Amino acid sequence: MGRRNLDPEDIVRYEEDGPKVVLLDQRRLPDEEVELECRTVDELVVAIRELAIRGAPAIGVAAAYGLALAAARGDDVDAAAAALAASRPTAVNLTWALAELQDDPTPARARRLHEEEVERCRAMAAHAAALFGPGTRALTHCNAGGLATGGYGSAVGALRAAWERGLLEHVWVDETRPLLQGSRLTAWELETAGIPHAVIADSAAASLMAAGEVDCVVTGADRIAANGDTANKIGTYSLAVLAAHHELPFYVVAPTSTIDLETPTGADIPIEERSGAELTARFPARNPAFDVTPAALITAIVTEHGVRQAVAL
Ligand code: MRU
Repeated sequence: MGRRNLDPEDIVRYEEDGPKVVLLDQRRLPDEEVELECRTVDELVVAIRELAIRGAPAIGVAAAYGLALAAARGDDVDAAAAALAASRPTAVNLTWALAELQDDPTPARARRLHEEEVERCRAMAAHAAALFGPGTRALTHCNAGGLATGGYGSAVGALRAAWERGLLEHVWVDETRPLLQGSRLTAWELETAGIPHAVIADSAAASLMAAGEVDCVVTGADRIAANGDTANKIGTYSLAVLAAHHELPFYVVAPTSTIDLETPTGADIPIEERSGAELTARFPARNPAFDVTPAALITAIVTEHGVRQAVAL
């Protein structure tokens, strides 16, 4: 309690002295605030793959700084871009950011991309807050906060904006099995912002909805296909089905850097399969990190440009 909100450069930044990319190690949160220094692209690739930094826009920002690092070191920039692009497959922000940096892989360009991503978050949060009625009790999944975007947040940004406007009463925070981005990261961010919240087991969402204790579901996104189908953290699709059953709005809040018009439908989105050891050290396991919510289950997609029905993208 009493901790200040994180500034964008607290989450990820580039330092000429080194040179290095420095990031807040999200694996250690909320118990410890420890920075991780990456002096090579290989170190940054490992940091992204092992979720020291995670969340679609944030890994895009980190990759942009990584490309600037490669150029400053005199490394092969194309090889660095290929390694960074391969670090995680689902979030399109990664390849988007690398393409943005292609002609100008400098720290200044990467910092501008970072600033613009945070500005997009503030703009979409303001649009999304307009969807909230007074006294809203929202449910969110995973972490789509400042940690996931490099500052302010997408879905959590919307919650922050709604709270500041006096429209938000309470947030249900899915713990988000198996890596607990909800109970470790989102709860930590909401606590800092002073927003009333409670962590729930993912499997508690249905009964809370049935009891009339949820007014809407708000999530981020890792990739939005051209038809509006949306990939996000595993478990998002089940929430969308539940929201439809209980006639609750299901909102996706994401910057345009998450929209991939070259991927026609959700079936074409690559879904990351992570090690089964994240689920159990004892038995065989299957561990898809993301799922796809069909556009038909999404009430609205909110970007920095405004509110859109998924099918009208
Ligand atoms: O595996 P993660 O933690 O990178 O997954 C992150 C999510 O699924 C987020 O909800 C998504 O990236 C949106 S972040 C603004």
